[in-house]
Amino acid sequence: MIETERLLLRPMTQDDLEDFYDIFNSDNVGKFVNKMSHEAVEKYFERKKNRPINPYSFAVVLKENNKMIGTCGIVYDNDNFCGEISYVFNDRYWNKGYCTEAGKAVVEYTFENSKMHRLEADCAENNLASAKVLLEKLKMNFEGKIKNYCKSYDGNIIGFNFYAITRDEYEAKK
Ligand SMILES: CC(C)(COP(=O)(O)OP(=O)(O)OC[C@H]1O[C@@H](n2cnc3c(N)ncnc32)[C@H](O)[C@@H]1OP(=O)(O)O)[C@@H](O)C(=O)NCCC(=O)NCCS
Repeated sequence: MIETERLLLRPMTQDDLEDFYDIFNSDNVGKFVNKMSHEAVEKYFERKKNRPINPYSFAVVLKENNKMIGTCGIVYDNDNFCGEISYVFNDRYWNKGYCTEAGKAVVEYTFENSKMHRLEADCAENNLASAKVLLEKLKMNFEGKIKNYCKSYDGNIIGFNFYAITRDEYEAKK
């Protein structure tokens, strides 16, 4: 469990299903990650029951009312000691600094509690909020772009940008 000023980051439980659905059944969220029906969420939670727990994957919960407003975590590559950060927040809570608060906590937790030496992330070039979080808030470096990578929600073919922070850079910037 990680505690920040306004948030608790804890493992997701089966009780989070409706809040998870509330996050993912959104047209705004669906522009950048897969929108999910209630049935798809139910199947996802069913599959999760049999999966090993990822210790770096968190439900992001508002301390004030215990509502899960987002997910934030690292998928880690144990063999190469690196991980990929990703996050999604309920669009009714966007632009209040919650992703920044959770993301910083997860980056710090990961570098302080694991042997990972590199965290990376990617996002669509038109995902300006996510790019700002990665570059300005989490202090990752832009490492490059894959041009004409995939189809965007608006039908345009867009590129994907790649970001990363190494352990050395994290130590130097903290
Ligand atoms: C990306 C996402 C998680 C950000 O969550 P959030 O809680 O709103 O993020 P924060 O409030 O911490 O920071 C967002 C920053 O981007 C800025 N921003 C938002 N929309 C923007 C836009 N269209 N252009 C430029 N900046 C923008 C905000 O103003 C804020 O910066 P500020 O605090 O300096 O004002 C959220 O938009 C989301 O869930 N998107 C859909 C899922 C997704 O894209 N996940 C990442 C896949 S790579």
